[in-house]
Amino acid sequence: MSTSKVWYITGASQGFGLSLVKKLLDAGHRVAATSRNVQALKNAVGIVDSTRFLSLAVDLSNTDSIDESIRQTLSVFGRIDVVVNNAGYGMAGTVEETEEQKIRGIIDVNLVAAIDVIKHVLPVLRAQRSGYILNIGSVAGFVGAPGWAIYSATKAALAAFSEVLALDVAEFGIRVTVVEPAGFRTGFLTEGSLAYTETKLDGYEAVKKTQERYLAMNGRQAGDPEKAAEIFMRLAGRSDPPVHLFLGVDAYNRASKKLAAMTEELEKWKEITLSADFS
Ligand SMILES: NC(=O)c1ccc[n+]([C@@H]2O[C@H](COP(=O)([O-])OP(=O)(O)OC[C@H]3O[C@@H](n4cnc5c(N)ncnc54)[C@H](OP(=O)(O)O)[C@@H]3O)[C@@H](O)[C@H]2O)c1
Repeated sequence: MSTSKVWYITGASQGFGLSLVKKLLDAGHRVAATSRNVQALKNAVGIVDSTRFLSLAVDLSNTDSIDESIRQTLSVFGRIDVVVNNAGYGMAGTVEETEEQKIRGIIDVNLVAAIDVIKHVLPVLRAQRSGYILNIGSVAGFVGAPGWAIYSATKAALAAFSEVLALDVAEFGIRVTVVEPAGFRTGFLTEGSLAYTETKLDGYEAVKKTQERYLAMNGRQAGDPEKAAEIFMRLAGRSDPPVHLFLGVDAYNRASKKLAAMTEELEKWKEITLSADFS
């Protein structure tokens, strides 16, 4: 029996998405990949077996464009087994200096587009009574750093959404994971990807310091996107994938520290927490 699967991946012209597309094609899978720039995507993927690769020009802020891409995937490959909501970008700066339009824009791409893709693909997965949804969140959605409030909010929302979605769709044999990476060596911290507002206001020392540290980290992040792509593929092969998967040593350390601090705080305030119900 063939183990070839059909993958649908958003934001695939570089970074995690591109590494994953290439590895999947090498392993014999069929891949539908979206990009804002389909020519850049084709160039980046290189020459491949065109019967197994479908490049799709998709505007993720447009629900019709998403719907059409799912239709095309089905008409070419006949099914969808794995959906990867990967497209996304970072935003750094103080909240007060970030324009409202930029705030709405990042929520649209990092959160609403993922929900929209899932809305369009769920009828297919439900009918198949199988499927795997992999949402690319961030450790920043669980443990944020100064200057990343808006980005962290989008990824925290994606994680919360994924947790509940996993409960909603389990009875249909559909599994959901939110992957929460720390710093990986992709285009994430480059000018083309990161929306960055220089902090000009007095004060905000923690924000300024963290911004400098992050920008200096570009190209030196500990996380290897090739290894991440292999992990995504292994997850899709499992019948028991986790709901949350933190990725990278830094992600593990930050998450475990936060969990311990949260447990401590929960217990410290337990009496007041429990006192709020009708007696
Ligand atoms: N690298 C990290 O350190 C890190 C850590 C935690 C989480 N993540 C998450 O991992 C995912 C992939 O990022 P990456 O690290 O691979 O970075 P990347 O190299 O910058 O790639 C990001 C991809 O997302 C798409 N994208 C970026 N801005 C977009 C926009 N405004 N509208 C639509 N699509 C857009 C792009 O797709 P097209 O150009 O093909 O349209 C691009 O291929 C993101 O969701 C990111 O938040 C990354």
